[in-house]
Amino acid sequence: MSENIVAIQLDGKEINLPVVIGTENEKALDIAKLRAESGFITLDTGYKNTGATSSAITFLNGEEGILHYRGYDIADLAENASFTEVSYLLLYGELPSKDQLANFEASLATNSRLPEGFADLQKAFPSEAHPMSQLAAGICLLSNYYKRNTSDATDENIHTILGAFAPVAANIQRNFLNKDFVSSPGKGLVYDFLAMAFDEEPDEVIVDAMDKLLILHADHEQNCSTSTVRMVGSSHANIFASITGGINALWGPLHGGANQSVLEMLEAIKADGGNIKKYVAKAKDKDDPFRLMGFGHRVYKNFDPRAKIIKRAADNVLNKLGVKDETLSIAKKLEEIALSDSYFVERNLYPNVDFYSGIIYKAIGFPTEMFTVLFALGRIPGWVSNWKEMRDRKEPIGRPRQVYTGATLRKYTPISER
Ligand code: SDX
Repeated sequence: MSENIVAIQLDGKEINLPVVIGTENEKALDIAKLRAESGFITLDTGYKNTGATSSAITFLNGEEGILHYRGYDIADLAENASFTEVSYLLLYGELPSKDQLANFEASLATNSRLPEGFADLQKAFPSEAHPMSQLAAGICLLSNYYKRNTSDATDENIHTILGAFAPVAANIQRNFLNKDFVSSPGKGLVYDFLAMAFDEEPDEVIVDAMDKLLILHADHEQNCSTSTVRMVGSSHANIFASITGGINALWGPLHGGANQSVLEMLEAIKADGGNIKKYVAKAKDKDDPFRLMGFGHRVYKNFDPRAKIIKRAADNVLNKLGVKDETLSIAKKLEEIALSDSYFVERNLYPNVDFYSGIIYKAIGFPTEMFTVLFALGRIPGWVSNWKEMRDRKEPIGRPRQVYTGATLRKYTPISER
């Protein structure tokens, strides 16, 4: 990063603020000394213009629809890499050599054997409980099975949660479907996850599609759930507690929960005779809380590059599986109608990563309620990479300021006088 200085005038006093310029020429005002020198803080509800940190992991340019992991374009990685290769890249900053990848995968495989008794705990969760609640509870409780300090960013702690995540997620599907748990065939992270989730040898078309989808979800800069992981981790909470914070943030329908809401929306349109125009009108109506789920993005004001890749993969997977799904044609028509409507065009509302992913998950056979767990399974390497970066840098505990707008000082009045 290179720096220069800008001067601002506040209450007649000149304040000099360093300018930080990133490797992709993003510019920021470093306001670390602002309050001490001027008494002012900045205010930016929802952090729409505020950087919480600098990071060397993921770069995205929302105006141009660019997404890079450690400098590699998302389309390049989706086409050529595997999910474990990308997980290694996000964590350590470089693509692994053959030996490095083999050792990494072996470590994850070792850690995919869950601690004694943990599966019984997962079986004890109410099967009808939403899979995201089972995931958050499960990952948080996993911390009790390791007596060592799990709040340090060691490879041991990181590989433990990376290796455990997929089997925990597969067990959740089995429990949600009231089915027996399945042991891992030991043929690789994605293959084993599918075999454990469905209790059958997965078709290679599905393994490939799942691997690509997990790569596309692996990281995304300082989104709501990743920022939450960094925030929780900044208090030196253990890795399981930090990731649990991210799981819960991801669950929201405005974030990762959108992939489940998209499918529910498409099914509702299908049940309503495919009346797409009605739902587009509802999405535009300010008095109607309905939003076009899977559309819009805080950062992308152009196409989400992941949505383009997933849309192509949806066609490919459904054709290869011989699945005819009316929700895919409804989604395509919805996209076409919305993108020719000035309401969406003026607000730069395009399909995002969640718009098409659920159609593939449904074609593979996942229950809709599992979709956000699948998003989390993709995002876990991004979460732990950000957590590692924050801890390696010894960043301070996150503690934003505020502007108080409540009652000023007043005396207590006895209840007899109220
Ligand atoms: C993810 O941050 C990340 O990187 C997230 C993510 C990741 O990989 O981690 O990319 C994953 O979370 C993708 C987003 C999934 N969420 C959805 O699909 C839910 C539907 N989308 C919206 O709720 C919304 O677009 C957000 C939450 C995604 C973004 O909201 P913003 O940036 O706060 O934008 P906004 O709510 O201020 O909307 C701006 C305008 C408003 O209209 P006006 O007040 O200007 O008239 O656009 C409208 C909004 O009403 N709008 C929509 C809309 N999204 C925004 N109108 C209808 N349908 C929508 N989906």
